[in-house]
Amino acid sequence: MTDKKAYLSIDGLDEKIELKISSGTIGPDVIDVSPLSANGYFTYDPGFVSTAACESGITYIDGGKGVLLHRGYPIEQLADKSDYLELCYLLFYGKLPTAEEKAEYVETIQRHTMVHEQVSHFFNGFRRDAHPMAIMCGVVGAMASFYHENTDLTCPEDRATTAARLVAKIPTLAAMCYKYSKGQPFVFPNNDLDYASNFLNMMFSTPCSDYEVNPVFAKAMDRIFMLHADHEQNASTSTVRLAGSSGANPYACIAAGITALWGPAHGGANEACLNMLEEIGDESRVDEFVARAKDKNDPFRLMGFGHRVYKNRDPRATVMQKTCDEVLAQLGRSDDPLFKVARKLEKAALEDEYFIEKKLYPNVDFYSGIVLRALGIPTSMFTVIFAVSRTIGWISHWNEMVSEPHRIGRPRQLYTGSAERDLP
Ligand code: CMC
Repeated sequence: MTDKKAYLSIDGLDEKIELKISSGTIGPDVIDVSPLSANGYFTYDPGFVSTAACESGITYIDGGKGVLLHRGYPIEQLADKSDYLELCYLLFYGKLPTAEEKAEYVETIQRHTMVHEQVSHFFNGFRRDAHPMAIMCGVVGAMASFYHENTDLTCPEDRATTAARLVAKIPTLAAMCYKYSKGQPFVFPNNDLDYASNFLNMMFSTPCSDYEVNPVFAKAMDRIFMLHADHEQNASTSTVRLAGSSGANPYACIAAGITALWGPAHGGANEACLNMLEEIGDESRVDEFVARAKDKNDPFRLMGFGHRVYKNRDPRATVMQKTCDEVLAQLGRSDDPLFKVARKLEKAALEDEYFIEKKLYPNVDFYSGIVLRALGIPTSMFTVIFAVSRTIGWISHWNEMVSEPHRIGRPRQLYTGSAERDLP
């Protein structure tokens, strides 16, 4: 709390309402509006455009400058010098691990990679052609049935074990979704492989053919996991916090996060973006699609463009574009037609008055789809991979909330329905 105060004068009220102001480490000050309800008023902020719903020390975004910090460290430096599991440790525990702590953490994750054999039976209940995100919602929620009675939310060690189990098992479940859709047998995790290589191996090896993990691909996969690991109070993280605020089982809360992520305005944008690039198909059609995106009578939007918080280039998009260059060069596909369409589209939009005026820049999902496709991952799995990456962010936020005294999340409303009336 600062000494600064805000005073709200309302027509008909004799006295101004005094509101306290809090300052974070960095970022805008926050006006505490909680006294308003005692005076008979609520604030109204659909989409939470100006509302901080919690206090958090995990991730900071300066959308105007295009800055993303995890526990204070810039994403560009983390992507360059760290790796996904180290970032998981940092997000959850709040500090970088020492060499011993890192080794112990990696071993813990490896120890938890297998899922209970019963889980494999759930899959048979799903249609083979079901969207893998639909299956993920179900099987991740089902994990609550294995870890409920023995999870004490007030115990930090239990919460850390929950987080480790989730980080370890989510790639296994994601790969099982893919294998199920292909009609191929599930591949067990291989604990001799690093996190990203193990995921690629579970996706692409079969009992009849080994899959040799290309180190450039493994690095690209690890980068994708890192770039999607956390993004402060986005829709899915806020969903996990809201579900968790009631004391619900954490695996069920993560399943809630997966549902919120699925939509094309959020995590589903990577799938929608690749579908869009395929629909455009050729550089010659870019102008037509830019015109459609600007037409208010056309619901079409440029997928992978724009962000609620970034009003500058998404720093993750810059790293992703570099990764895209590396992967395509490794494959000898630098002239990939979709990459060319993406490049031309980006340039056309960035030079267009509509996108300049609305500060719409490419976001992380603009290039991630091209990388994932180059790794051989089908489009329908893109958002699942986002969910794998974001699990650490979700559970770190859940842990931060649960470890402090907190109230159940309970927004208010502006009621516009009928006033009280009698039945005829
Ligand atoms: N193409 C065309 N116009 C756009 C776009 C776009 N991609 N994004 C925003 N606009 C326009 C929008 O029509 C509106 O115009 P006006 O003021 O004339 O009504 C203005 O820009 C502001 O947009 P908004 O929808 O009010 O902004 P928002 O903060 O509510 O939505 C967004 C943010 C990300 C949902 C939106 O930019 C969008 O739909 N982008 C495409 C989907 C996408 O790429 N999502 C991934 C986000 S990054 C990954 C993640 O964190 O989930």
